[in-house]
Amino acid sequence: MGISVCEQAGVLPQHVAIIMDGNGRWAKSQGLPRVEGHRKGAGRVRDIIEWASDAGVKQVSLYAFSTENWKRPKLEITALMTLMATLLPLEIPRMCERGARLLTLGDVSKLPWIARKSLQKACKATENNTKIDVILCLNYGGQQEIIEGIKRFCASFQDADAKNEALEQLNAENFRAFLGRDDVLPVDLLIRTGGEQRISNFHLWDAAYAELFFTDRLWPEYSQADFQAALDDYAGRERRFGKTSEQLKGETHDG
Ligand code: IPE
Ligand code: IPE
Ligand code: MG
Repeated sequence: MGISVCEQAGVLPQHVAIIMDGNGRWAKSQGLPRVEGHRKGAGRVRDIIEWASDAGVKQVSLYAFSTENWKRPKLEITALMTLMATLLPLEIPRMCERGARLLTLGDVSKLPWIARKSLQKACKATENNTKIDVILCLNYGGQQEIIEGIKRFCASFQDADAKNEALEQLNAENFRAFLGRDDVLPVDLLIRTGGEQRISNFHLWDAAYAELFFTDRLWPEYSQADFQAALDDYAGRERRFGKTSEQLKGETHDG
């Protein structure tokens, strides 16, 4: 009846994060300029929203531009921003049909005006959709996010005593509030396309216990079968979160 293995097993990831890599190499392999790889990659962004939503995933976060990507040639940065600014408004009707709410992560205030405007419009137009969150990560860096959290924490106390007491009680649960985006769930599955096996400063906090899945497929060629393969692989993982396998299976009686 079209039920995926993951749904049957009840182990569907709630939050899937994707490092969409390989646009430039795909373009090169076709004898095209890099920007054509980004254009083709944008089509897969449209697709993944559909595939993730159909699979029943609650959040999908997409690494679209890192804090390190500012080091790229100016021309490529401009092309990327322009592409996003022009394509995003065209996606609003489809996103609404799909029940997709657009959110952003990262300091979007540093993006060109045209990109900010387009993001604002798409976020506003989709804000009441509830089926799936699409979190576009732009000018995003995991280290920067943690630094901003520390700054917020430090700025939130009037006097040294209160700050010291809060410091004393600081832990992974209550620090999360200072990261400033309560909407974002812990990452369950982190997929990277393009063959590299690194995190590249993505979701350093939220992916602390994510299952990692690397594929050689270049992002412009990523398919629904590739995505399903990652979901199926995830369904077969045992997430122990520090416990033993026996504890998870309820075979031990000492906690
Ligand atoms: C990922 O593809 C897209 C962005 C980083 C914006 P790349 O542009 O990094 O593609 P490769 O890694 O050079 O093939
Ligand atoms: C990571 O890809 C960032 C995005 C996909 C937006 P990169 O291609 O920039 O990563 P590195 O620099 O090769 O690790
Ligand atoms: Mg790359």
